[in-house]
Amino acid sequence: MEKHTTADNDLFIELDTITLSYNDFGKGEVPVIFIHGFPFNKNMWQPQMEVLKETHRVIALDLRGFGNSLSNKEDLSITLFADDLILFMDALKIRKAVICGLSMGGYIVLNAVKRYQERFSAIVLSDTQCIADNDEAKKKRLSTIEEINQNGLENFATGFVKNIFSEYSLLNKPDLVKAILNTILSTSPTTIMGTLRALAERSETCSTLNSINIPALILCGREDKITPLGQSEMMNKAIKNSAFHIINNAGHMSNLENNTDYNLYLKEFLEII
Ligand code: MLT
Repeated sequence: MEKHTTADNDLFIELDTITLSYNDFGKGEVPVIFIHGFPFNKNMWQPQMEVLKETHRVIALDLRGFGNSLSNKEDLSITLFADDLILFMDALKIRKAVICGLSMGGYIVLNAVKRYQERFSAIVLSDTQCIADNDEAKKKRLSTIEEINQNGLENFATGFVKNIFSEYSLLNKPDLVKAILNTILSTSPTTIMGTLRALAERSETCSTLNSINIPALILCGREDKITPLGQSEMMNKAIKNSAFHIINNAGHMSNLENNTDYNLYLKEFLEII
């Protein structure tokens, strides 16, 4: 296992068969690890990293194949991403962490917590859900894979960004929308197609929510169309020790669309756990 840095603050760690890229700022006994959604990368956590690094050790990870992390296989799964997270924590000698995931990042958090709850002291489930894809959603993912395979990422990326932002952000935050569009377009089509398959094949984790014994914070953009509020409400009811806040003026990318409110709830949670 080797660790090296580049000029732009990116660190790299070689695990058994892959190299993962991450940022690691600040100091603290129990780090907060951020897991990005699909198809983004660790840069999406910049507004949280900047603020929280003053008081906490904060780590944002590029999942295999995303951002600057490499991947050596096309056969991806949510379980594989969660296994990578545990290997990553082992490699950095992190025994316990607070883990925060948005959307697919949340699927990974729930998968990891189901199997390795003892490795986490608290979880943040942001704009996510515990259900698996139904047949219709699976079919849609497969036709998206076909479309990307034939025509590349352009159509997929422009359609995707229209769905993930609130009306307010689409109108008033063109730079943010453009940055996310560029993130998608800079991601490898092989990783995107492999992850769409992984998302379609993921298992539900709703049946495991009542076994979560650590504090949970649930955050969701009011206008989230991908993982709507009802999903967060359901998780909030099922998890024993959870708090739930709605992020106004935000869709699916709540941490970026309204980082002021998002950071406020996150900081408050980190203070009380
Ligand atoms: C995400 O933001 O991670 C994805 O949109 C989740 C999904 O498509 O299920």
